[in-house]
Amino acid sequence: MLAADFQEWMQAHAARMESVLDRVLPPASQAPARLHEAMRYVALDGGKRVRPLLAFAAGGLTGADTARVELAAASVELIHVYSLVHDDMPCMDDDVLRRGKPTCHVAYDEATALLVGDSLQSMAFQVLAQHRLSDEPQQQLKMLELLAVASGSCGMAGGQAIDLASVGKELTLPELELMHIHKTGALIRAAILLGALCGRAMSTAEEQALQHYANRVGLAFQVVDDILDTEADTATLGKTAGKDAANDKPTYVSLMGLEPARRFAADLHAEALAVLEPFGDAALRLRQLADFIVLRKF
Ligand code: IPE
Ligand code: IPE
Ligand code: MG
Ligand code: MG
Ligand code: MG
Repeated sequence: MLAADFQEWMQAHAARMESVLDRVLPPASQAPARLHEAMRYVALDGGKRVRPLLAFAAGGLTGADTARVELAAASVELIHVYSLVHDDMPCMDDDVLRRGKPTCHVAYDEATALLVGDSLQSMAFQVLAQHRLSDEPQQQLKMLELLAVASGSCGMAGGQAIDLASVGKELTLPELELMHIHKTGALIRAAILLGALCGRAMSTAEEQALQHYANRVGLAFQVVDDILDTEADTATLGKTAGKDAANDKPTYVSLMGLEPARRFAADLHAEALAVLEPFGDAALRLRQLADFIVLRKF
């Protein structure tokens, strides 16, 4: 059971994310209206908002101004939503359901889905560049670079390439870990670091601990996604269950089996909590988010 105050915190911050996205996305009436409508269709009113929540929690650790963190958080969520739109396209996972609604290429068309992804990606960097997010301009440039690296061929997009090249193959555990760290871990890590970078400078030890936490939680997130794909149902997930097996994807479940995959997620969870210890009470929300990521049912 999640603590009631944590649930309230999640709801309040998810609502805050919703209003920031609503504000930064062009109105659906603005030309080209169909593209803007589709961008709002995929980005608004859905998803767990885990990456923004991690950014808010990490920003809390460095005393960051929430008005800054919310923009950094929105930039990562925009990249994430773009990755989902493209991930669902027929040339990738070919999925028809996302966040409980028809996927973008089903509700609109493939060309629109492609352009929605492109436009959300550009918007993410626009948001990071347009507003002052750090007192130090150098620091803000570092944030832009961080998100670019996390999104591109050495991060999420690279992970997606490995994923597609791995269909029908049996990977080794290190190969599978590499794929997951890229396709999912990279953006989760970026969310945490961007949130923290909105605040005061961290010591090297603090930064290392936060990076360690981010790496463990990022991997755990995809291990749990693999588990849920096999054991949850479509209505609960809001996306098609059993899709990994249907698409012949290597996952932690296909490679290790369900129980060992669960134990692996529990080990990553324990390690994520352990590295937060030096932060004490200041890391409460990060701790609770690690719990949520590993114990979630959707
Ligand atoms: C799904 O991410 C894609 C992965 C990287 C596993 P989420 O499970 O965070 O999806 P939403 O944002 O809640 O819809
Ligand atoms: C998606 O991994 C990772 C990205 C979108 C970058 P999955 O293909 O497992 O995500 P779901 O299960 O469709 O959400
Ligand atoms: Mg995929
Ligand atoms: Mg998919
Ligand atoms: Mg999945």
